[in-house]
Amino acid sequence: MSEEPLRFAVIGVGAIIFGEHRRGLEAINARVVAACDIDEGRGRARADELACPLYTDHRALLADHTPDVVAVMTPHPSHAAIAIDCLDAGCHVLVEKPIGVQPGEADAMIAAADRAHRLLAVNFQQRLRPEVRGARQLLAQGCLGQIQYAHLAVTWTRTAAYYRASSWRGTWRGEGGGVLLNQAPHDLDLLCHLVGMPSRVAAWTRTRLHQIETEDTVSALLEWPGGASGLFHASTAEAGHPATLEIIGTQGRLLLEPGAVTFTRLASDVRDFVVQSQALFDSPELIPEPVALPDDAPGDHVAIYRDLERAIRSGAPVIADGREGRMSLELANAMIYASHQGREVALPLDRDAYAGLLAELRAKGKPVA
Ligand SMILES: NC(=O)c1ccc[n+]([C@@H]2O[C@H](COP(=O)([O-])OP(=O)(O)OC[C@H]3O[C@@H](n4cnc5c(N)ncnc54)[C@H](O)[C@@H]3O)[C@@H](O)[C@H]2O)c1
Repeated sequence: MSEEPLRFAVIGVGAIIFGEHRRGLEAINARVVAACDIDEGRGRARADELACPLYTDHRALLADHTPDVVAVMTPHPSHAAIAIDCLDAGCHVLVEKPIGVQPGEADAMIAAADRAHRLLAVNFQQRLRPEVRGARQLLAQGCLGQIQYAHLAVTWTRTAAYYRASSWRGTWRGEGGGVLLNQAPHDLDLLCHLVGMPSRVAAWTRTRLHQIETEDTVSALLEWPGGASGLFHASTAEAGHPATLEIIGTQGRLLLEPGAVTFTRLASDVRDFVVQSQALFDSPELIPEPVALPDDAPGDHVAIYRDLERAIRSGAPVIADGREGRMSLELANAMIYASHQGREVALPLDRDAYAGLLAELRAKGKPVA
């Protein structure tokens, strides 16, 4: 017997990103029972197309409907309040990245999901890219030995027109950060997903090219609990550098690029090699190894909706739950905090201290139209 389609509500249905969610909803044959957007004009056409009622306040929607799942695609500062209301109403939640704008919000969302025994899924679709799954499998098998160094660099070129198109973008009140809160969450998430959560961060955030309040460029130095170190660089003001993540371990090197993962094994573990070799300048032989990818299904919103449906029906975890989704946000916040304080910071980030900094930056920034 086929199972009943999941019943969804969509909050922020006028969002540009809704097109991707529509593909996900269709892929799992979901039924959209209600939609919400505070901008009635933006929401109406979409609600008509989905043949469902439109609300301009998510609380009114929750008073009339109890969907199985609510998909939240509003700007990030409203993610926490909306997700908590939906979890408290007994719904599972799929929230767009980033989970929120500061770690205290993520803590509250995780607590609400735990309280309600509902899933809180964060939309980190890149985790489902075949090459990312392949890389994670290699790491889980211990192929790299002990991780010593990681380096992630990426450009997400954005135009002035992009920042003008939505008044919340690039503002402290509307977004709570720049490239770190909007584009780089995917990259920070992959770093945490593959290497783990760093324990120490130093960073420079800068506004190099765009007329925005928040950073368009960041460079950071990272340290992990095991002693590995790393570099992270992201910018919307540079061009020509798609995301590359290089992970160096005592037994090899892994390079993750869009659509590809490459593994080069060292003929002997460098920890043994440096002790055993009698040569003054020497290095273990490099042996390229093929990496088997699990399949070629793209890591997109369709994959996220399939993963979410599987988790709801089976009781298994989702690919990125609230705790997983919090890591990249906390790391982004730590970079902003380290840069504004002019010193390195230890993780977990002090929630009150970060809330204080964000309140200061918001007070100096412009109100969101
Ligand atoms: N996973 C991804 O790859 C990906 C890609 C793009 C955007 N996003 C995320 O999706 C979210 C939306 O981004 P966008 O660029 O599509 O935004 P957008 O500005 O195009 O749309 C946001 C929509 O939310 C509505 N809205 C605002 N506050 C609301 C509220 N309180 N209740 C109901 N509706 C409300 C707005 O009227 C608007 O229609 C952001 O958090 C962004 O980071 C994720």
